[in-house]
Amino acid sequence: MTARPNFMVTQAITADPVYEFASEVRAGLTRPGQRELPSKYLYDDVGSALFEVISVLPQYGLTRADERLLQRYAHEMVERLPAPVIVAELGSGSGKKTRYLLEALDTRQQTRYCPIEISHTALTMCARELSDIDHISIVGFESEYLDARRRSGQHLLVLFLGSTIGNFDRPAAAKFLRSVREILNPGDSLLLGTDLEKPIPQLIEAYDDPLGVTAAFNVNLLARINRELDGDFVLDQWKHEARFNPDARSMEMHLRSKQNQVVAISRAELSLEFSQGETIWTESSHKYATREPFRIAREAGFRCVAQWVDREWPFAENLFIAE
Ligand code: AVJ
Repeated sequence: MTARPNFMVTQAITADPVYEFASEVRAGLTRPGQRELPSKYLYDDVGSALFEVISVLPQYGLTRADERLLQRYAHEMVERLPAPVIVAELGSGSGKKTRYLLEALDTRQQTRYCPIEISHTALTMCARELSDIDHISIVGFESEYLDARRRSGQHLLVLFLGSTIGNFDRPAAAKFLRSVREILNPGDSLLLGTDLEKPIPQLIEAYDDPLGVTAAFNVNLLARINRELDGDFVLDQWKHEARFNPDARSMEMHLRSKQNQVVAISRAELSLEFSQGETIWTESSHKYATREPFRIAREAGFRCVAQWVDREWPFAENLFIAE
């Protein structure tokens, strides 16, 4: 007899993912002024695998800092939570760093863990990776949005790790935090990972590594459009660029057109002219001041009750409690 797995993954019920991708590509590439593509589309199977490689590059310390903090302080973090707690994670990725928290919780209670992911592959991998933890039941959701289903008396802990929040500009991050707060009850918590400000040359190296992995990660977005939307981007006509935007306090990734060129994207019914030197903006990664999480917590109806900071690579885990 085979044991029943203790994890379950719910498929997305989106109307038509190709149609959605096509219309967002069309909107971003035809808008007046700076053209852009939504950064969430960087993470197909190829992009997710490339990001895993980025996270072990010596120049990109963000993921390791996040992991170090969770490894070192998981017990302290768990001590500050009410029990019992259900854990929901937005953008769980591989689930590797979440293990420390789940194992710290394991000694206290039976834990339900709900990873929420837009990538079905990442979701399945994460559920399988963590299924060996004692006293855990995993219910994965293929979705972009937080789901807070639970029984009464159970508190919710939402994880938003890895500085994914950095992909939002500051007003959008504030709006996002308020929308999370709306789903929570007073006393529920949010553990938020934020990458902190650091010297610009260090940031540039982190987002334009000498091996070219980040460049491949960025250009893969055009390759994905070719694959899924029948586009004809010539990949070597585009150059990866990483720059710091001092007004937004963010690292930006762009793809710069090496020549005047015409690109057709058949399933988005597009034919586009790009001029030499123009860019497509593909991602922003906002960097936070150490104290900033305390303010953004208050503005969204939370209180930041604790912060853990990595000294090797300035990064903070911030524990917010809903007021
Ligand atoms: C996973 C969104 C936190 O913004 O630093 C890594 C993605 N982009 N290198 C980040 C990324 C380029 C990363 N996040």
